Amino acid sequence: MPVRTYFLFLIAALIVIPQVQFAQSKATYVGVQTCGMCHKSAKQGEQLKVWQQSAHSKAYKTLQTKEADEISQKLYKKNAVDAKECLSCHVTGAGLDKSMFGSKFKIEDGVQCEACHGPGSEYKSMKIMKDKAAAVKAGLVLYKDEKDIEKFCVTCHNEKSPTFKKFDFKTMWAKIKHPVPKG
Ligand code: HEC
Ligand code: HEC
Ligand code: HEC
Ligand code: HEC
Repeated sequence: MPVRTYFLFLIAALIVIPQVQFAQSKATYVGVQTCGMCHKSAKQGEQLKVWQQSAHSKAYKTLQTKEADEISQKLYKKNAVDAKECLSCHVTGAGLDKSMFGSKFKIEDGVQCEACHGPGSEYKSMKIMKDKAAAVKAGLVLYKDEKDIEKFCVTCHNEKSPTFKKFDFKTMWAKIKHPVPKG
């Protein structure tokens, strides 16, 4: 082919390839209210309610307390909600660019579904959710056994937390687990 056509092909390829490669990374955070629309019935396992009643839903509000500011002022000379060190474990998608968050996402909702299951914009449709393989391909994060789950929990529940005492996986998991009822 003529050299010019060849170069046009090359340029076209360069434009297309990166988009294919990073298809998965365009997933954005939709927020717990979106997940909750389909995950609140008794038949589904009331994941929304379990989460609302858990400390994870209050993790950001905790940073707005006097106690939190005292800890943060001592360590970082700023209030807790302004300290990226505190936000790193107390919110979802900490430190990411604003473009990563959908319009319904609220930082005040603390440690939300997507902190553990991955950003949901690409897997949240009914069609994809009903097909586990497709959901995982679209970015849904699942865990294969309790060891795998524990390994993930301790990425936040560890001595880098200024109030950390200990983490007993069995007790803590029992407090927040939210299975789909069998049958
Ligand atoms: C449009 C409704 C809908 C929305 C929105 C939705 N889900 Fe789902 N989700 C479902 C259905 C239906 C299932 C399949 C349940 C089943 O197999 O019984 C499911 C399954 C799941 C599973 C279990 C997958 C498996 O097979 O083990 C997880 C985890 C999950 N959803 C998380 C989320 C998260 C996190 C969000 C928000 C980002 C979300 N879902 C949004 C309907 C929805
Ligand atoms: C993104 C960080 C993060 C991850 C991952 C995480 N947690 Fe938490 N968790 C927190 C924060 C922050 C708090 C404190 C919230 C508060 O009190 O405001 C908390 C609090 C809790 C509490 C309440 C504390 C208590 O003593 O009752 C339980 C239970 C808990 N987490 C269980 C778990 C389990 C089980 C996992 C793994 C499946 C897990 N967490 C993963 C950040 C995380
Ligand atoms: C490595 C993750 C991590 C970081 C960083 C972190 N926290 Fe937490 N925070 C947690 C977890 C997990 C809990 C729940 C139980 C615990 O203390 O381990 C928690 C609980 C708390 C509590 C409630 C304590 C209680 O006993 O009820 C306060 C207050 C708090 N954090 C403030 C802060 C402040 C302020 C910062 C920043 C200076 C911060 N955290 C940084 C993970 C973290
Ligand atoms: C602290 C981490 C964490 C948070 C927050 C969290 N999940 Fe999960 N979720 C897990 C883990 C761990 C499992 C069990 C392992 C698995 O199924 O991958 C699980 C399982 C599930 C399942 C499958 C249950 C089954 O029986 O197959 C669904 C559905 C689900 N979560 C939905 C949600 C929704 C919706 C939210 C928010 C309202 C949420 N999760 C919040 C960690 C979390």
